[in-house]
Amino acid sequence: MLTESSRRTRPGRRGGAVLPRLVGQDLEVQLAGGETRTYVNLDMAASTPAMEAVADAVIEFLPWYSSVHRGAGFASQVSTRAYEAARSAVAAFAGARSSDAVIFVRNTTEAINLLTHCVVLRPGHAVLSTIVEHHANMLPWRRLARVELLDAPQSPEQLLSDLRRALEDRHRPIGIVAITGASNVTGEVFPVAEIGRLAHEHGALLALDAAQLAPHRSIDMVEMGIDFLALSGHKMYAPFGGGVLIGPSAVLGDAEPMLAGGGAVTYVTTDDVQWAPIPDRHEAGSPNVVGAIALGAACTVLGRTGMNHIGAHEKRLLAYLDGQIDDLPNLHRLRLWDGPDVDRLGVSTFTVDGMHHALVASVLSAEYAIGVRHGCFCAHPYITHLLGVSIADAHTIRERLRRGEHQEIPGAIRASFGIGTSVEHIDRLVAALREITTRGPHLEYVEDPHTGDYLPAGDQRRLPVFEFLPPLEAMATPSGCGQF
Ligand SMILES: Cc1ncc(COP(=O)(O)O)c(C=O)c1O
Repeated sequence: MLTESSRRTRPGRRGGAVLPRLVGQDLEVQLAGGETRTYVNLDMAASTPAMEAVADAVIEFLPWYSSVHRGAGFASQVSTRAYEAARSAVAAFAGARSSDAVIFVRNTTEAINLLTHCVVLRPGHAVLSTIVEHHANMLPWRRLARVELLDAPQSPEQLLSDLRRALEDRHRPIGIVAITGASNVTGEVFPVAEIGRLAHEHGALLALDAAQLAPHRSIDMVEMGIDFLALSGHKMYAPFGGGVLIGPSAVLGDAEPMLAGGGAVTYVTTDDVQWAPIPDRHEAGSPNVVGAIALGAACTVLGRTGMNHIGAHEKRLLAYLDGQIDDLPNLHRLRLWDGPDVDRLGVSTFTVDGMHHALVASVLSAEYAIGVRHGCFCAHPYITHLLGVSIADAHTIRERLRRGEHQEIPGAIRASFGIGTSVEHIDRLVAALREITTRGPHLEYVEDPHTGDYLPAGDQRRLPVFEFLPPLEAMATPSGCGQF
């Protein structure tokens, strides 16, 4: 167990293991005042930069890039084999069964939508989940069946006992337990193997949203009893648009394709179609071959590095961050459960008294070159719970939004990290937060009414020029809403 003093001890630079380097690890960005600083990317739970090895793998492959599956040319043959090799690399990384299909999709959202499209539940059977889920693992299930949402558990033990109670209720049978491997908001790692065992003991299947877990902990579908698994390449240091759904061929192979089109068929007549076997039937259209190669390469590099080394590096940094952040005045860390034995990803989410979450995030960027995320992290029910928003207030928010009225959604600030994050990055975050929570911003900020973002007055940051793109729009231009 970490003592108070060991929690504050500055860990070594990389804790021993050599971790892969990331593209842009030494990126220099400007502050609002015009000076430059090395960028501190603490938004890795949203998207990770590419690993250099993944970018190299893509460059190595590109000369061979050609149509897959249907081309007779040599480059097509190579591309097809590389695409299928990437599928095998992802299967090995996830510990998939030989009877599982690995279907390439864009991301976890698409994977779970495809899964809910494919699965057929027995009449009267429901999906069991929790309010902690990301919207991607919540909304698609609602289209399939009744979803029973457990409240946020106060400990892993409570989660297991709540799941057991729900699974034992014979009057409300459960067909699938749909759960995340780790919270994208507060980082707690869920006891997946125990959940898998419980689900199977009660005749249910386990669908795991591994978007957050996969880049940080090892996964073994067989050992952990995971029937279906979804993950995204852009959170695994392979931001080239690839993701996968993995699950039993017997289940996925029976379903009609979600996307109809070329490549998903064996034969088409004027009034009928013979769908292809999986995986092709669920990969209609020309696939994202480069995304698949990048994801396969990322799985190989992560596997070679050792997820235990990656996890250990991140846990050291988290203990170091936790030991300091809790002492900052006016800052409140949000958590699902806590304690010395709790396994958490490199995620720290908090609010600051008297300061809007968007303002804190903007100050971190404009004055300290630190990139974090703020808002609700696509987990409205969970954030509502964490921030203690009453049911009546949540109802009012929903009604005002439904009427198209301006309505702020309560939110928080999230710092999240992974490979490439260093002790120096944590030091810079803590130092910046100490100043912000004690002295406030140095600059003046104006709220952008379109986005709810805060813009520093007199912002001197110049946007980069990309040779093959039109000039980027100025920073003050609305770029989307950070709240969601
Ligand atoms: C736990 C979790 N599930 C699902 C998703 C959705 O992933 P994607 O946007 O890649 O579809 C995210 C994204 O943040 C996530 O954190």
